[in-house]
Amino acid sequence: MRKRLGIHALRKMKNEGNPISMVTAYDYPSAILAEEAGIDILLVGDSLGNVVLGYETTLPVTLDDIVYHTRAVARGASGTMIVADMPFMTYGASREHTLLNAARIMREGGAQAVKLEGGEEISAEVKALVRAGIPVMGHIGLTPQSVHQLGGYRVQGKTEEDAARLLQDAIELEKAGAFAIVLELVTEQVAAQITKKLSIPVIGIGAGRYCDGQVLVFHDLLQYSSPYFEKKFVKTYADIGTTIRGAIEGFVQDVKTRAFPAEEHVFQPDSRGPERLYGGEAAVNEQNMPQSAKEVTVK
Ligand code: KIV
Repeated sequence: MRKRLGIHALRKMKNEGNPISMVTAYDYPSAILAEEAGIDILLVGDSLGNVVLGYETTLPVTLDDIVYHTRAVARGASGTMIVADMPFMTYGASREHTLLNAARIMREGGAQAVKLEGGEEISAEVKALVRAGIPVMGHIGLTPQSVHQLGGYRVQGKTEEDAARLLQDAIELEKAGAFAIVLELVTEQVAAQITKKLSIPVIGIGAGRYCDGQVLVFHDLLQYSSPYFEKKFVKTYADIGTTIRGAIEGFVQDVKTRAFPAEEHVFQPDSRGPERLYGGEAAVNEQNMPQSAKEVTVK
């Protein structure tokens, strides 16, 4: 089993110029696949509101949603660092509220760290969490939980004043004890400046080439949605949406024409002994089979 990275290993990666990879995950199979692919960090982002739950913004995502999805991800990726988002208004109202909510994400969800959106204005919360032993990843730039305040999903840090504020926010988060920050949708120049200034890793999304790492949303890099909207800052690595739609069209067609199930998919009463639910070479070795499959081996 591979060893999960910790916050010191991430800092070392920054110092050695070794880029950090992070992807969002919201469920068990995607966590397994991302871990097998060698991802450094899994983020149970509140983007789950948009890409999994079908909301227009991340605001309706609840603490229960995040705990539930984090638990599924944790079951699939025991060798990968898992960071989970604290949803809108689950922090900041009171110190006690923030601490107890973060504790649920860690204890019930199984995350190793939490992520909060905001800069200087949440630095006291960050300090309190870190003092309580909870690693915090900051998130500045475009902060989707403040989309209405920001007036839309816009690139941040375009004016000198904005750039200076972002840099100050980043410095305050580092001072408060954040172990890393996400920088979302900011100009490449500002991201480079912040990355150089901080000693903690800066992980960018739509923040250019000079951050210490990059994060993408699982569904974006796989085109796993319909309709799919192209985003300038995303590179798509597969077109899973088209593959899934085509596969289901094939299934529908086969059912309608009775091409499925075919002879090889059906069980017959004969005397050849137990028939196996899982086909292929791997099934010959029971150790390769999930426990549930062993239980349903048909006698
Ligand atoms: O919720 C999320 O997916 C995020 C990433 C965009 C960094 O915060």
